[in-house]
Amino acid sequence: METIKKCLFPAAGYGTRFLPVTKSMPKEMLPLVNKPLIQYGVEEAMAAGMSEVAIVTGRGKRAIEDHFDISYELEHQIAGTSKEGFLKDIRYIMDNCTFSYTRQIEMKGLGHAILTGETLIGHEPFAVVLADDYCVTEGDGVLAQMVALYKEHRCSIVAIEEVPRDETFKYGVIDGEEISEGLYRVNNMVEKPDPEVAPSNLAIIGRYILTPDIFDIIRDTPPGRNGEVQITDALMTQAKSGGVLAYKFKGRRFDCGSIEGFMDASNYNYEHIYKKR
Ligand code: UTP
Repeated sequence: METIKKCLFPAAGYGTRFLPVTKSMPKEMLPLVNKPLIQYGVEEAMAAGMSEVAIVTGRGKRAIEDHFDISYELEHQIAGTSKEGFLKDIRYIMDNCTFSYTRQIEMKGLGHAILTGETLIGHEPFAVVLADDYCVTEGDGVLAQMVALYKEHRCSIVAIEEVPRDETFKYGVIDGEEISEGLYRVNNMVEKPDPEVAPSNLAIIGRYILTPDIFDIIRDTPPGRNGEVQITDALMTQAKSGGVLAYKFKGRRFDCGSIEGFMDASNYNYEHIYKKR
């Protein structure tokens, strides 16, 4: 049976909300305590059975490539000391995954970033992780929950969560019919609607499983809100033809693209992971 092996990480955005730190450092490399955001995302993808990591980068993002590579000098320096243990998780990732990169030359939006990744994905279903949405779960990770659903339904799936009504303007928002607990068939989707016109308070977060026909759809999708090619618009087209599901995942999400969410996640990981290690 076809399984999902590839996970795409669009990581070309400027991260302006974190300036000045993101002037020369990728937002995806900001650490929650001592591990960069993108590493948590890769670990979640691995836990869902994926081993081919595809990253869409841009100018100023080389630290991401260096992170998933060997640092000979450093490793020689700490060889045989207790500090070697700090590299255990990243070594495990490097031993079990392949990494491929492509650059988005102009930041024309998330939809465009995903289309830029086509060269790395080819013609197969794939996952997408926005590393600045950091998710914690008690059991299976969010992607693992979504892969299980994909095996049953074989169509694109977006992860959603309920957000306060007055925050719909920050998200893609869906309208759907609940077909089983927490699972909706999408009828409509709107990118960043004002609360008065939002079709619901079910907001799309940074986890997707996409079927490869999405690439042709994005190619035909004109720029939308903010002049950017929006993945939400492409998914709306896909919803009309083949069906898109929205899944209220089990777990908690931190919006690490904002300072407040990033600080909350840092504190959470310090208390729940770092102190208990
Ligand atoms: P955001 O909307 O969070 O934008 O992008 P941003 O540039 O990262 O951050 P701010 O708003 O300026 O602070 C959501 C995701 O889509 C990727 C980003 O890297 C992030 O993972 N993205 C967005 C791209 O890869 N390319 C784009 O053209 C736009």
